[in-house]
Amino acid sequence: TWTMVNIVEEQIERIREQIGTEGRAICGLSGGVDSAVAAAVVQRAIGDRLDCVFVDHGLLRKGEAEQVERDFVAATGVKLHVVECSDRFLTALAGVTDPEEKRKVIGREFIRVFEAAEAEVLGAAAQEGEKVAFLVQGTLYPDVVESGGGAGTSNIKSHHNVGGLPEDLEFELVEPLRTLFKDEVRLVGEQLGLPAEIVHRQPFPGPGLGIRIIGEVTRDRLDILREADAIAREELTRAGLDRDIWQMPVVLLADVRSVGVQGDGRTYGHPVVLRPVTSEDAMTADWARLPYEVMERISTRITNEVAEINRVTVDVTSKPPGTIEWE
Ligand code: XMP
Repeated sequence: TWTMVNIVEEQIERIREQIGTEGRAICGLSGGVDSAVAAAVVQRAIGDRLDCVFVDHGLLRKGEAEQVERDFVAATGVKLHVVECSDRFLTALAGVTDPEEKRKVIGREFIRVFEAAEAEVLGAAAQEGEKVAFLVQGTLYPDVVESGGGAGTSNIKSHHNVGGLPEDLEFELVEPLRTLFKDEVRLVGEQLGLPAEIVHRQPFPGPGLGIRIIGEVTRDRLDILREADAIAREELTRAGLDRDIWQMPVVLLADVRSVGVQGDGRTYGHPVVLRPVTSEDAMTADWARLPYEVMERISTRITNEVAEINRVTVDVTSKPPGTIEWE
């Protein structure tokens, strides 16, 4: 639309002014809409002087890494550095079952990996005598309001003590989405030709599938959950329910087994829980009344196509008292 074109053009002008004709910027991509749109706008403004970093921690859903590495790059032409480090995350998560501990481990590893990549990119810039490093963030208007409007260079410094960089290198934030709401960000993303899978992606937690496996996170369990989750998402889309359902986590009860029967044989597999919810802002949520036919298709397909799963259940708890995620 006309206003979105204006917003994009205006932001591109601003970014050019802020970063100058020589400066370089770095942006971390998560697979989500905010960082993708922020990166795409900055790419339009400064082209190859933007470096994007994507940490593939192995906890994403099926196809999501490819969406970033292939489709997003094809649509935008951004210079992307992929850090594949699922081994590192799995090693760090070995034996961890407590939800908050999982978050801590994943968050810690993520920052370490990102900062190492950042140091590499920015180190090269610093060697060329640059004094300012620009860090692109997908901060939205509601985030600005929530944090009192004070976002800027100061608060980023505290958690960006990147080792190996000259001390006089200063960080400056570039926040092209600072005045926008989520739906406007999606419009800008469409305007810039980003893949629909990214622009209309439902909310997905940073710790990813790691907090949807109840019990220890292992590679086998991730593979099982990834397949079940892909089927559930596919059927939700096929039923045309993507816009009605806020989120539908699929949760693997990895330490629970139950008896089943399939063909001539007895099975002893794991259950998954479907957690479809409707919500305005994730603060509260209602369990979604999915049509029976949709639940049936999901159940039939998961139990047929994922050998380790022999039971599909549905969570009918609202928030409160239940949270959206199980961990
Ligand atoms: P809960 O489970 O608290 O989730 O009802 C509310 C919303 O937040 C998402 N969520 C997270 N997002 N890191 C994130 O980036 C997290 O650790 C995390 N935990 C929950 C959840 O998917 C829902 O949209």
